[in-house]
Amino acid sequence: MPTPRWNDHRVLITGASSGIGAAIAQQLAGAGATLMLTGRNEPRLTAVAQSCDSPNGRVTALAGDLTDPAFRTRLAEETRRTLGGIDLLVNNAGISMNASFETLDPDVLRIICEVNFFAAVDLTRLLLDALTESSGRILVMSSLTGLVGTPTRTAYSASKHALHGFFNALRVELRRSGVGVTLVCPGYVETPIRTRALLGDGAIQGRDHAEGHRMLSADRVAAASLNAAWRRRRLLLLGRETRLARILSLLAPGLLEMILDRATR
Ligand SMILES: NC(=O)c1ccc[n+]([C@@H]2O[C@H](COP(=O)([O-])OP(=O)(O)OC[C@H]3O[C@@H](n4cnc5c(N)ncnc54)[C@H](OP(=O)(O)O)[C@@H]3O)[C@@H](O)[C@H]2O)c1
Repeated sequence: MPTPRWNDHRVLITGASSGIGAAIAQQLAGAGATLMLTGRNEPRLTAVAQSCDSPNGRVTALAGDLTDPAFRTRLAEETRRTLGGIDLLVNNAGISMNASFETLDPDVLRIICEVNFFAAVDLTRLLLDALTESSGRILVMSSLTGLVGTPTRTAYSASKHALHGFFNALRVELRRSGVGVTLVCPGYVETPIRTRALLGDGAIQGRDHAEGHRMLSADRVAAASLNAAWRRRRLLLLGRETRLARILSLLAPGLLEMILDRATR
């Protein structure tokens, strides 16, 4: 359910043209926030912006590719100009993969790390003074795969683990500024991410390899993530498999590896 707490907050959301990012945008708009939305696919981004019904906030969309550092700079500048500052940065854009490392083209690995990790770091750097000024919040969409190395997801796992290293360190650096840093780790969520996942040669997979699997809804993940960010929680684990994988990784890593190996054969 939308909450009124975000009324008057200024928010940049990456990956807002689809899935979890679109759900976050719709919920924040419902709560009266003013939004800057971004994603690559302009028609889909525009449709999400039009579906955002903000009682008193404004919704702006700027389409572009986050692998392009010049676009990241432009996006940060437009965010400052349009919103006049920022209270919440949602680093949500992400791209997944399905390939063994031996078939993974190094360029594909770099694309995944650019979108999932470097774009989040860059936008945070570019907007850090404004976030500090507002004692704002940074919400980072990681994954179960950010806690546990997952076969056929080497680059994806690496990019999500990197988010934890970077944002956990940054949280401590920002302790005195009052900026909150929240990492969210969902398990499977019902979105097109797996259908759009890259194969080893960079082709789009075009099917959901987890079809039939029990999944969280994008709406539920969005609501729980916003609630965690509001409370400035450090880490949110979403879904039973995420909590179980976390416990096994600490207490029985060999057993966890055996389960992961079987699950991907
Ligand atoms: N779905 C899951 O099971 C799951 C589980 C754990 C974590 N997550 C994480 O949740 C986040 C959102 O994923 P989702 O499930 O909502 O997937 P999604 O529906 O595929 O949305 C991904 C978003 O990222 C954007 N994006 C991808 N590549 C981009 C690029 N090069 N430049 C700019 N934007 C780009 C997409 O924009 P366009 O479509 O316009 O290109 C889209 O808006 C990701 O970080 C993902 O890793 C998802």
